[in-house]
Amino acid sequence: MRPMHISPDHPSLLRIVDDLATHGWSQHDLFLPQALSLALAAECLQRAAEGELAPASVGRGAAQEVVERIRGDHIQWIEPGQAEVCDRYLEVMESLRQALNRGLFLGLEDFECHFAMYPPGAFYRQHLDRFRDDDRRMVSAIIYLNEGWRPDDGGQLRMSLASGVVHDVQPCAGCLVVFLSGEVPHEVLPAQRDRLSLTGWFRRRGNEPF
Ligand code: OGA
Ligand code: MN
Repeated sequence: MRPMHISPDHPSLLRIVDDLATHGWSQHDLFLPQALSLALAAECLQRAAEGELAPASVGRGAAQEVVERIRGDHIQWIEPGQAEVCDRYLEVMESLRQALNRGLFLGLEDFECHFAMYPPGAFYRQHLDRFRDDDRRMVSAIIYLNEGWRPDDGGQLRMSLASGVVHDVQPCAGCLVVFLSGEVPHEVLPAQRDRLSLTGWFRRRGNEPF
């Protein structure tokens, strides 16, 4: 697979920056080329089959625990150099990071991300993507990897927007959703079939002394 060079000035990225500045969130259907989302879905399924995805936990550090009545997904963190297809995804997100920094001056310094698989019936209760003791996560970005998803498969991302509107996103292959991590309460509704995604967070520098 060839490298994905997307300029930080690409109109799709500028639209996301503009949406975030105006509304605090953005949705872009068919953001990833189909070949890339198919390859990422295959990579996620292979990792799941090899037992590399583990039950996700809630909280951070010593307070971290697996709580299935809050979230029931299985995840694996992604690092550069693990798989070519993941590196392509990381390149796209790096362009988005640069676009966000240029347009919004957020000082985003890094990106952390994981594959997630929700087995049938699994959900994630309403939450914000910020830890009580760590406010480095600024922007959440989720890409869905599910071909042929139908509304009655469930599994919607339900966002409670500042305007008071509740907005549901169908987790269809290639769709990207971006929102301000500390400001948009959201939840994942239970699905009838496996639900695959890539979830990531752009983070600013922490205020540790060094
Ligand atoms: C998360 C999350 C939403 C989704 O992992 O924090 O809210 O639609 N995921 O997968
Ligand atoms: Mn979340």
